[in-house]
Amino acid sequence: MNIFECKDVSHNEACGYFSVNNPATNEIIAYVKKTNKQELEQIILDSKKAQIEYAKSLVEYRSDLLYRFYELIIENKEFLAELMTKEQGKPLNESLGEVVYAASFLKWFSQQARNINGDIISQKVKGQNIFVLREPIGVCAAITPWNFPLAMITRKLAPALASGCSMIVKSASQTPLSAYALQMLFVKAGFNDKLFVVVNGDSSEIGEVLCKSDIVRKLSFTGSSEVGKKLYKQCSSSLKKLSLELGGNAPFIVFDDANLEDAIRGILASKFRNSGQTCICANRIYAQSRIYDELCDKLVVEISKMKVGNGLCEGVNFGPLIDAKAIERVKNQIQNALSKGAKILLGGSKHELGGNFFSPTLLSDVTDEMIIAQEETFGPIAPIFKFDTEEEVLIRANDTQYGLASYVFTNNYRRQWRMAEGLEYGMVGINTGLISNEVAPFGGVKHSGFGREGSKYGIDEYMELKYICLNM
Ligand code: SIN
Repeated sequence: MNIFECKDVSHNEACGYFSVNNPATNEIIAYVKKTNKQELEQIILDSKKAQIEYAKSLVEYRSDLLYRFYELIIENKEFLAELMTKEQGKPLNESLGEVVYAASFLKWFSQQARNINGDIISQKVKGQNIFVLREPIGVCAAITPWNFPLAMITRKLAPALASGCSMIVKSASQTPLSAYALQMLFVKAGFNDKLFVVVNGDSSEIGEVLCKSDIVRKLSFTGSSEVGKKLYKQCSSSLKKLSLELGGNAPFIVFDDANLEDAIRGILASKFRNSGQTCICANRIYAQSRIYDELCDKLVVEISKMKVGNGLCEGVNFGPLIDAKAIERVKNQIQNALSKGAKILLGGSKHELGGNFFSPTLLSDVTDEMIIAQEETFGPIAPIFKFDTEEEVLIRANDTQYGLASYVFTNNYRRQWRMAEGLEYGMVGINTGLISNEVAPFGGVKHSGFGREGSKYGIDEYMELKYICLNM
């Protein structure tokens, strides 16, 4: 499919197309064809056929293709970044960062592909040799979100391809263009086009077909805990392997012995990346009482410097939210916090640009009874909670059903380790607000899901062990 030919108003909903909007302007930038159930079933069958052949290929072949795929993304990074900003809204520099981040998974797993080795286990019975093979799981499916239109695909696709699997991706309906562009580069890199197919359309129908299919042996999902739990149930009939990277409610704890300038840099990076629309962004910022006022004052100064606008414009470092629903959620959380005693230090309402723009917001006097303490915000509100002791803040930080990312700023080495051990989260950043990269295992615990993406562990999610007992 040529994504540049989609901009045809005759391809409207009734003809099986859906529109893609630019969240900064609310203009329709493309029409994309929906995949129907019959087409999806055929795609699954074709995927299986292609995967069987692909699984026989040498690891060097897979590794070389993955590397070529990586190079093509880097060669086309400006084009991909602009497309991403147009459909997702994030500032161009952030889009460029995401393109490189997305490509890094292909590079990393092109290297990992060469290290897929089995095992030989010492004999238990004389004359019986025990071998362990690591085999690709088969056809995989991924359901990916709109907040990272490329990276959340490649983080799943790269280990799948490295291990000899194929993948069908249901991309977010807000951001399908980046996914199709990726698919074009995939084919250009020399892969069989049936090994990675992007589908779009009715999310519940597509999700149900993928979950219930016995041919699809693995589903990887990034999105809300609510949808993740639904998919988990739907997958039970086919007992497929699952990775679920779900919601978060990250505590960001600043002790009074921390370097405050570093902590502020960390808060800005973690909280306002992608306008606060990430699963791992700081959701609850806890400041120790002695530095509480100073931290708030300094944050007011720094957040005021942010330039809100269309991500394609020079100097803009804060884009729109994805849609009107996102604005409503943010407004409701602010309303609830104010009704329970919080104060607005900055922002707190829609930005003067209108549309999907919301002002970066700082709230003080925030308490654990407010909705913002319990629910994922997924928007640009930085709520500052006060705490007195380490024991107290650890209990409060863990008092959530989520367990994805957490952050601690302190210069006390013993405390760094105690906090890292005590936090019930899959990831802990100490003195940093940016923790994502291709070499580290990304994932959560509790209602934030299970499974790890990226790193040397990421490939295991796409492989099965086979034990062979050879009696001599
Ligand atoms: C996410 O928000 O789900 C992903 C964030 C990241 O990879 O840094």
